[in-house]
Amino acid sequence: MSMRSQADRIIIFDTTLRDGEQSPGATLNVEEKLAIAHQLSLLGVDVIEAGFAAASPGDFQAVKTIAEQVGIVGGPVICSLARAVRQDIQAAAEALKGAARPRIHTMISTSDIHLQYQLKKSRSEVLAIAAEMVAYAKSFVDDVEFSPMDASRTEPEFLYQVLSQAIASGATTINIPDTVGYCTPKEIGNLIQGIRQNVPNIDQVILSIHTQNDLGLATANALAAIEQGVRQVECTINGIGERAGNAALEEIVMALQVRKHYFHPYFDRSVDADAPLTNIKTQEIYKTSTLVSRLTGMLIQPNKAIVGANAFAHESGIHQDGVIKHRQTYEIMEAASIGLPENRIVLGKHSGRNAFRTKLKELGFELSEEDLNKAFNRFKEVADKKKEMSDWDIEAIVRDETQIQVESGFQIEHVQVICGDCTCPTATITIVTPEGKIITNASVGTGPVDAVYQAINQLVQIPNQLIEFSVQSVTGGIDALGTVTVRLAYQDRIFSGQASDTDIVVAAAYAHINAINRLYCHLQTHKSLTSV
Ligand code: KIV
Repeated sequence: MSMRSQADRIIIFDTTLRDGEQSPGATLNVEEKLAIAHQLSLLGVDVIEAGFAAASPGDFQAVKTIAEQVGIVGGPVICSLARAVRQDIQAAAEALKGAARPRIHTMISTSDIHLQYQLKKSRSEVLAIAAEMVAYAKSFVDDVEFSPMDASRTEPEFLYQVLSQAIASGATTINIPDTVGYCTPKEIGNLIQGIRQNVPNIDQVILSIHTQNDLGLATANALAAIEQGVRQVECTINGIGERAGNAALEEIVMALQVRKHYFHPYFDRSVDADAPLTNIKTQEIYKTSTLVSRLTGMLIQPNKAIVGANAFAHESGIHQDGVIKHRQTYEIMEAASIGLPENRIVLGKHSGRNAFRTKLKELGFELSEEDLNKAFNRFKEVADKKKEMSDWDIEAIVRDETQIQVESGFQIEHVQVICGDCTCPTATITIVTPEGKIITNASVGTGPVDAVYQAINQLVQIPNQLIEFSVQSVTGGIDALGTVTVRLAYQDRIFSGQASDTDIVVAAAYAHINAINRLYCHLQTHKSLTSV
């Protein structure tokens, strides 16, 4: 029987750049999306949902650039989301032209609550639109995915009808979204079972699942769907996404790897089969996770499964004792399996450029000569203050120095702060403007960070509101590097910035200017778009 839904492994459909970017404040520019897409390709995802081409000119450009530069022969399938309307499908098809393997993902709501209050359409109208728009998408590309939005709250008989029509019209993947994260694992299992039993042509397509995390059940629901024959999972790095986010790619992949003996029988494999259940190179997980966190400004909670800072840390004496005696007493997977660097002391202030270059290679960074020089200079500066440089410190420096900069943004020249219990916190900041002018300002604040922000804001003259400020220590120890992440609000948009330094007030100044530069870039693009 040629059951496409019975493919013998899981297809990983990554939607970090589409659903993930719908996280409030996670807005990414085209260069940042491209950097993530390249990393997703290295990670080995099968499909990259690169965006929603019709949503904005920026989204269109991002899908187009990723299609051309990442969707090469031998690379992943590149997909664009499109509502079931002609203009969306045309925009998706146009943006995907450069991809070796393009996919259009079209969707329409099918639940009564969405039909009545949002679409204001009858079931028969939705049925006709779904069939017509799948066929329309098929006129551009062979690979068409169809999603009945809010599928898990759709009346089952109507859902079966819509799916059957979509397949008859040319869909090659049928995706079942639990759009509002409402279902329990058992209910998701029953839903998939019902679809497989009642949609006569379901075996002609790949069956997919898209789970949201509103009740914290996204990963469990996706795994329950896999047990019932789903063979594509839609997920995001770090589980980011609309509201409480999506199923986390790293959780799905590591569950399938660590518990492969449990899952093998669902794939008609012998329990101790060798071949992995996904094509993901798990050693790239940690790097991908930190890249996404840094570029989106979405911090990872320390207790987050797989990629959280505490995921491999053992605090209790009993656990530490057990791990020292035999690692598997308390560890079900090795940190190295997700590419987590060991916190080894490696370099110091006497280390030369060659040792630094070799270390970067070991950590998986391939830098241009220019970026290498920038990172090396910064390394020397930090090594002067900090005796021992761990792999984590080096990673933080490289991330800072190679972060995608706005071509001609503001640059910090100098930060000086005076504070204490009997002093009015005062910051003096010198910056270079995009036009190359050097300007200085001093300001007081409620604390040193506030003083820095006031001084910078008065210099750049771009209104913004600081809505989030956080500091994380890169390693332990009194001389640790601190990474500051800030999120700024401007009208209805949020912009993030990140920077690391041994002095957290200095890191705060750089993080703030990085966020300001993203906002500045947005304003410049907007200005040039509205003046066209
Ligand atoms: O949550 C949802 O329903 C979606 C679909 C477009 C798959 O994101």
